[in-house]
Amino acid sequence: MPKVTFLPMDICVEAEVGDTLLETAHAHGIPLEGACEGSLACSTCHVIVAPEWYDRLEALSEDEEDLLDRAFGLTAKSRLGCQIVMTDALDGLRVTVPEYSVNIKVR
Ligand code: FES
Repeated sequence: MPKVTFLPMDICVEAEVGDTLLETAHAHGIPLEGACEGSLACSTCHVIVAPEWYDRLEALSEDEEDLLDRAFGLTAKSRLGCQIVMTDALDGLRVTVPEYSVNIKVR
């Protein structure tokens, strides 16, 4: 099972291969919102991927890119958690959950 670390909480969890990062977060009580439940209609699952991992992810779709433009605190390493599918190749992934999303303050 690939492991993923959520920052700044520094919580390392095991993910099921095939689950999204959003599903992984929810399975372990990580406060990543996901208002549209992964249907690519919000930006509340915004995460910032550690630089060493960003280029190892599947490329962004145009829809994801459009939604990310609405994310609070967008960075060059931003992605939507519901669009990252966990694989064994992502074992060790590190992502930061931003303090704010468009909908809520998460911490
Ligand atoms: Fe809405 Fe990811 S949960 S876009």
